[in-house]
Amino acid sequence: MEKPEIDFNIEKIRKDFPVLLTKENGKPITYFDNGATTQKPLKVIERISDYYKSENANVHRGVYKLSSRATDSYEQARETVQKFINAESTAEIIFTRGTTESINLAAEILCRSGKLKEGDEIIVSEMEHHSNIVPWQITCTGKKITLKVLPFDENGELKINELENLISEKTALISVVHVSNTLGTINDVKSVIEIAKKHNILTLIDGAQAVSHVKVDVQNLGCDFYAFSGHKVFGPTGIGVLYGRKDLLEELPPYQGGGEMIDQVTFEKSTFNELPYKFEAGTPNISGALGLGAAIEYFTALDFDKMKAHEDELTSFGLEGFSNFKNVKVLGHAENRAPIFSFVVDGVHHYDIGTLLDTKNIDVRTGHHCTQPTMRHFNVSGTTRISLAFYNTKEELKNFFEQFDKILKMLK
Ligand SMILES: Cc1ncc(COP(=O)(O)O)c(C=O)c1O
Repeated sequence: MEKPEIDFNIEKIRKDFPVLLTKENGKPITYFDNGATTQKPLKVIERISDYYKSENANVHRGVYKLSSRATDSYEQARETVQKFINAESTAEIIFTRGTTESINLAAEILCRSGKLKEGDEIIVSEMEHHSNIVPWQITCTGKKITLKVLPFDENGELKINELENLISEKTALISVVHVSNTLGTINDVKSVIEIAKKHNILTLIDGAQAVSHVKVDVQNLGCDFYAFSGHKVFGPTGIGVLYGRKDLLEELPPYQGGGEMIDQVTFEKSTFNELPYKFEAGTPNISGALGLGAAIEYFTALDFDKMKAHEDELTSFGLEGFSNFKNVKVLGHAENRAPIFSFVVDGVHHYDIGTLLDTKNIDVRTGHHCTQPTMRHFNVSGTTRISLAFYNTKEELKNFFEQFDKILKMLK
C-alpha cells in the first residue's frame, strides 16, 4: 500500500533558504552536502545583518543602551540554546567556535584540572570524526593517556555490548559521536552514558550531526558534556556550543585567559568570573550567537515529527535507490539512521563521481570526511557522500539517481 504523503510543506520551506533558490549555468542546484554545512534561512541572514546595521556594540561592557541591547540579545541566544538542548541552566551553555573547539576546550580543562591524569584511559568509538580523536591525543601528550576504541559492526552500529569489556579502573572518559557524519548511524548514546555512569566515568557526546536530525535532551541523556556547531544546524559558521554539567564546570579551571572571564586581576593572581563567562575569554562572536539563536528559533518552529517523518522517507528512498546499483556499496546500514549516505563504486574513484555530479549541479562531498579510521574499517581510501537535510526532496533524490546512473553508464 502507498504510504500517505507527509504534510510538510517543502516548497514553502525551500523558499526560506536563498542558496537553495540559486542557479548554476541557469539550472537549479541540488545541495546534498549538509553534513559539511547546512544552508541558512533568510531569518538567520537578516538577524546577523540587523545586528550590524542597528545593534552593533560589545557585550557585557557598556553602560549605554546600545551595548545593553546587544548584551540582552546575546544572552537571549544563550537561553534559546539552553531550551533547544534542554539544559538545566544557561550557566551550562558555553559559546565556542564550533564542535572542534568545544571538544578541545573540554580536553584542555579536563587535563589541566587533573580529572584526566597520567595513565588514564579514554574510550572513543571507531566511527569518530577526527575532531573527537585528535584533541585527546594533543592535550594528553606527555601524560601517557591511552585512547581505547569501541568498534562498530558491518552495519555501522556501535558494539555497545563490548563497552563493559573495554572499561577498566583507569577509564576516565567516554567520548562518542551521536550521529555519524559518514555512516549516518544514530548511536544509542543514552545506553553508552548509562554504562559510563555506572562506573563513574565522565561522558562527552559529539552532537555535530545530531542537532539537525534528532531531538537532543541533555538532561534525559545524562551526559557531562555535549558539543555542537551552529553551522550544521542552519546557523552561521564560527559559533558553536559546549554544554557542560554545571557542578562539573564549577570545578574546572578556565580555558583561555582575558576579557570577560575574570573577576579580579592583580599582577600576583587573578580570580575568575561565574559560569558560563569563566569559559568565554575575549570578545565573543556576538553576531554568530544571534544568528544561531535565530536558526534554532526557525528550526524549532517546524513540526519536528513531520520533519522526522520526511527525513525517514528520504532515508528509505535513498537506500532503495542505491540498492538498484549492483556495483555500488553504501557504507553502513544501521537500523536507526539519518539521511547520510557514503558510497563507493567498484573501480571508480570517489573524486571522479563527485566531479561528474558537479557537472549536473549536484553538490556532494568526496574524500574521507575526517573519519580516516572509519575508512580503514571498510578498507577504502574515501567515499562519495550525500547528506540530506529536511529541505531536500524525493524529487532531488530521484534526479540524483538518474544522473548517477547516466554517469556510471558513461564511465563504463
Ligand atoms: C561528527 C562531527 N564531529 C565534529 C565535526 C567538526 O565540526 P566543526 O568543523 O564545525 O568544528 C564534524 C564536522 O563535520 C562532524 O561531522
